Amino acid sequence: MKHNILVIGGGGREHAIVYALSRSPKVGKIYCAPGNAGIAQLAECHSEIKATDLEGVVAFVRSHPDIYMTVVAPDDPLAAGLVDKLESEGFRAFGPRANAARLEASKSFAKDLMKKYGIPTAGYEVFTEYAEAEKYLDSCSYPTVLKADGLALGKGVLICETKEQAKAGLKEIMLDKAFGSAGNTLVIEDFLVGFECSALAFCDGKTIVPMTTSQDHKRALDDNKGLNTGGMATFSPSYKVSEAMEKRIFNEVLAPTLNALNSEGIEFKGVLYAGLMIDGDNIKVLEYNARFGDPETQVILPRLKTDLFDIFEACVDGTLADLEIKWTGNTAVCIITASGGYPEAYEKNKEITFGELDDDIIVYHAGTAIKNGKLVTSGGRVLGVTALAPTLAEARDHAYANVAKVRFDKMHYRKDILKDL
Ligand code: AMP
Ligand code: GLY
Repeated sequence: MKHNILVIGGGGREHAIVYALSRSPKVGKIYCAPGNAGIAQLAECHSEIKATDLEGVVAFVRSHPDIYMTVVAPDDPLAAGLVDKLESEGFRAFGPRANAARLEASKSFAKDLMKKYGIPTAGYEVFTEYAEAEKYLDSCSYPTVLKADGLALGKGVLICETKEQAKAGLKEIMLDKAFGSAGNTLVIEDFLVGFECSALAFCDGKTIVPMTTSQDHKRALDDNKGLNTGGMATFSPSYKVSEAMEKRIFNEVLAPTLNALNSEGIEFKGVLYAGLMIDGDNIKVLEYNARFGDPETQVILPRLKTDLFDIFEACVDGTLADLEIKWTGNTAVCIITASGGYPEAYEKNKEITFGELDDDIIVYHAGTAIKNGKLVTSGGRVLGVTALAPTLAEARDHAYANVAKVRFDKMHYRKDILKDL
C-alpha cells in the first residue's frame, strides 16, 4: 500500500525531501505547501498555503483524508507548534513539537541546557536588560558574539571585532529591534575559532542515529567574505572530521543532547542538528537546529541508501533502534546559484535557462516560480546544483562544470568551494 504525504516548506531542502520521498516505493502522491517550481514536477504544490499558516495547513490536512503523514521541514512552523496542532487532531506528523523545537527557537534555552548537562559550548551570558548587556561589553574580550535569542532567519548573530561594533549591534538588536521580539533576550558568547561542521541526526525520542557529516558555507562571497546567508554551498562528508571525531561528536554532543532533553521531560522526534566549531581536539556546539539544514539536506539525502519514508515512520513510531540507516560510499557537493545582491536586495523574475546538464546532476529548486510559462527566479537562493562522485574533488569539478551551464541575469555563486583539495 502506498501512502500520500504532505511536505511543508518551499526551498531547496524541501525539494530534496520530496525528491527522496518520490523514490520510495511506499510513497504515493506527494503534496507540498507552498512548494516551488521544481517541487511541482514531483508533487501537487499549494502555493496559497504558506509554511507559517498553521490554520491553513491543518485545514488542508482535514480536507484531505488521503494524507497519511505531514512532514514539517522549516523552523518557524515547528517553533509555532504545527506538529502539536496536527497531533491534537489525530494527524500523523514528522518533526519536533514546540517544546522540543525550542532548542532552536531560543538560544538562551539551548545554552542553559548545554551548561546544565555539560555539553561543550562557548562561554556566555544571557541578558534581558539593555543596560546590563552594555556594561558587560565594557569588560568582555574581543571579538565577541551577540545572538538574538529567537528565530531571525539565520541573521540574528553578530560577530563584533571591537567594543564600538558590539555596542552598535547591541542597540540594533535590543533597542531598535532589528530582529523584532527575537531580540528581547540576548546571548553574548565567547568567540570561537576552528572549522565548522554540521552534525545531523534522526531522533525518535529515545534513539538517536547520526547522519553522515556535512559542511555549510554561510558567507556570500569567496574566501568566506561578505554577509552571512542561509548557505551558499555544502559538501558531504566533511573530510576534516575523522571517524574518531565523528564518534566523539556522537558521544559528547548528539547523544547527551537527547538525554538532556529527556531529563527535562522533553521528547524530541525529528531531525536534531548540531552546528559545531572544531579546533584540534576541541568540539563546541555553536547552535542547534530542530530540523534538516538547508543546503546540508541537498548533499545528505542524495547519499542516503535507506528509504526516507521508513526513517520518518520509525521516528514517529519510536522504532528507530530497529532500522539500519545506510549511506553510499560516495561524496556530494552542492553549489547554490543565488540572485545577485543576495542576502541584501536583489531582483526577481529573471528567466532561468539550462544548457545540457549531465544526467546524474540533481538540480534542487529553492527560489523559483513559473511565470507566463517560463521558469523564473523568485528568491535569493535560486537553485542548488548537486553532484555525486567517488571523491570530493571529482564531485566539486562535476558540480562546477554543470553550474556553468545554468544561466540567469545577475546569477552569483561561490567559486572557491573545496578549491584547495
Ligand atoms: P549560529 O546561527 O549560532 O550558527 O551562528 C551563525 C554563524 O555565526 C555560525 O555558523 C558561525 O559561523 C558564527 N558563529 C556563531 N557563534 C560563534 C562563536 N561563538 N564564535 C565564532 N563564530 C560564531
Ligand atoms: N545551513 C544552515 C541551516 O540550515 O540553518
